Amino acid sequence: MLIAPSMLSSDFAKLGEETARMDRSGADWIHLDVMDAHFVPNLTFGAPVIGAIRGYTKLPFDVHLMISDPLRYVGDFLKAGADVISFHLEADSSIPDTIRAIRDGGAKPALAIKPKTPVEAVYPYLDQVDMVLVMTVEPGFGGQSFMEPMMEKVRALKSRGVYVEVDGGINLETAPVAKAAGVDVCVAGTSVFGAPDAAAAIRALREGNGVIL
Ligand code: DX5
Ligand code: ZN
Repeated sequence: MLIAPSMLSSDFAKLGEETARMDRSGADWIHLDVMDAHFVPNLTFGAPVIGAIRGYTKLPFDVHLMISDPLRYVGDFLKAGADVISFHLEADSSIPDTIRAIRDGGAKPALAIKPKTPVEAVYPYLDQVDMVLVMTVEPGFGGQSFMEPMMEKVRALKSRGVYVEVDGGINLETAPVAKAAGVDVCVAGTSVFGAPDAAAAIRALREGNGVIL
């Protein structure tokens, strides 16, 4: 299971250094939460900030777009150095056009679904995307509690051979639950940045066995 620390929980005053620290601590991907204060009730950062920290690591940039019109901005995120771009099925852009724009730009397209969206909604696009991001909290904020019923979606997707990422509330207690459901990539914000030793936290989350050392 890969671990993608969410920079949302990092010290924004040192975003570049924090990205490099996650690299040194054994992160697999760097997760970047883009919010537009419209699709979700919070505002974070956009492509210029992502471009500014791109040089601090060679790890894949996993960009999670929580914005209403992802298609309009895909080009900016591609230029900023995104490797995986997840956008929400519940957003307003044409889904096939957005997937194509991401792939044509050389990145891997992924579809994200909110907790209330049934997993069947992504089925028509499974042959077009490289990953499905199953939200295990309502998107918008870090530090919320993991929704275990979402593991049913994960199991349904894994039975169809889909690469699955989960995002929200991943910690030492919930990572084993995700791992048992077959999750491929876990996003973790609070549990990595709140830990005294990020490397130990990442190792323990990846093992998914609830043991910290
Ligand atoms: C929530 C974001 C998550 C968030 C996860 O909208 O998509 O990536 O940062 O944070 P934790 O791990 O604290 O739930
Ligand atoms: Zn996210």
